Amino acid sequence: MKFLKRQKELNMKKDLISIKDLSVDEIKHILAVTDKLKVSPKDTGTPLAGRSMGMIFQKPSNRTRVSFEVGMAQLGGHAIYLGPDTIKLGEREKTSDIANTLSRYLDILVARVFSHSDIVELAKHSTIPVINGLSDTEHPCQALADVYTIKEKAGSFKGVKLVFIGDGNNVLHSLLYACAKLGINFTVVTPKNYQPNREIYNQALLFTKDSGAKLELLNDPKAAVKGADFIYTDVWASMGQETQAKKKKKAFKGFCVNDRLVLLAKQNCKIMHCLPAHRGEEITDSVIDGPNSIVFDEAENRLHVQKAVLLWLLGEK
Ligand code: CP
Ligand code: NVA
Repeated sequence: MKFLKRQKELNMKKDLISIKDLSVDEIKHILAVTDKLKVSPKDTGTPLAGRSMGMIFQKPSNRTRVSFEVGMAQLGGHAIYLGPDTIKLGEREKTSDIANTLSRYLDILVARVFSHSDIVELAKHSTIPVINGLSDTEHPCQALADVYTIKEKAGSFKGVKLVFIGDGNNVLHSLLYACAKLGINFTVVTPKNYQPNREIYNQALLFTKDSGAKLELLNDPKAAVKGADFIYTDVWASMGQETQAKKKKKAFKGFCVNDRLVLLAKQNCKIMHCLPAHRGEEITDSVIDGPNSIVFDEAENRLHVQKAVLLWLLGEK
């Protein structure tokens, strides 16, 4: 593709910090490569042989950590997990010193951080690509896997209605950008005090001018799910917000994705969740384990999409 050639010519380092920074062409390229990797993984070979990835994790992880580590191994590369007690971002040495040092050893870096400013700082001072593996503001790898899953199930983005029920946080923010860029109609329903970040929402609205996506912000889950093709939810108290769990449980009364709510959507409406789920809070067992749940296909797709992201950032495809 033209932009890949240009990236190489200019010797530009690419990062994946926010979906906001990706062009529609870049997203489509990642999704197309994902298709190939998923359908015939053996044809890919080991293009990342001899390459190393660092994985700084300030928070726990199942999907992000394992899918990146396995993805790197499948592509012939090597991954080094740097957990909360290893690098101690912002505590042991300056973030810029960490970025400068790791750039001398590694080819690529993924980081899961508390504060979004830390991932921005890492990217600024690294000479290697940096991937946001979740911050308090965004979860771009999740959103790419989510839109890939939607396309896989619906065939195309055209006319699709996705409804997000829950907290205006990282996962929702990345989905807002992705839907707005790709033309997916996106209804967001949150309690009044838990709406998405206004700046992010307004920026996403600007992206809809090119894609034609319809975005709306509502407060009534029952009204919101009418005509939904996909319902998506995430935990109410995210990692790092544990002290707010009790207060949030009260505020999110009526926002649980249960059988009664799903019945108000389209008959075949698919159920999505980034996981981990707090079963019995934002979603019931019967819905997440029900016939319309696609949560584990969605989780599997994290692996395929991230392999495409690694190849794209390392200029291999
Ligand atoms: N969805 C997701 O990022 O899961 P983990 O927190 O387990 O990585
Ligand atoms: N919003 C959740 C997403 C987990 C993948 C969190 O930040 O904990």
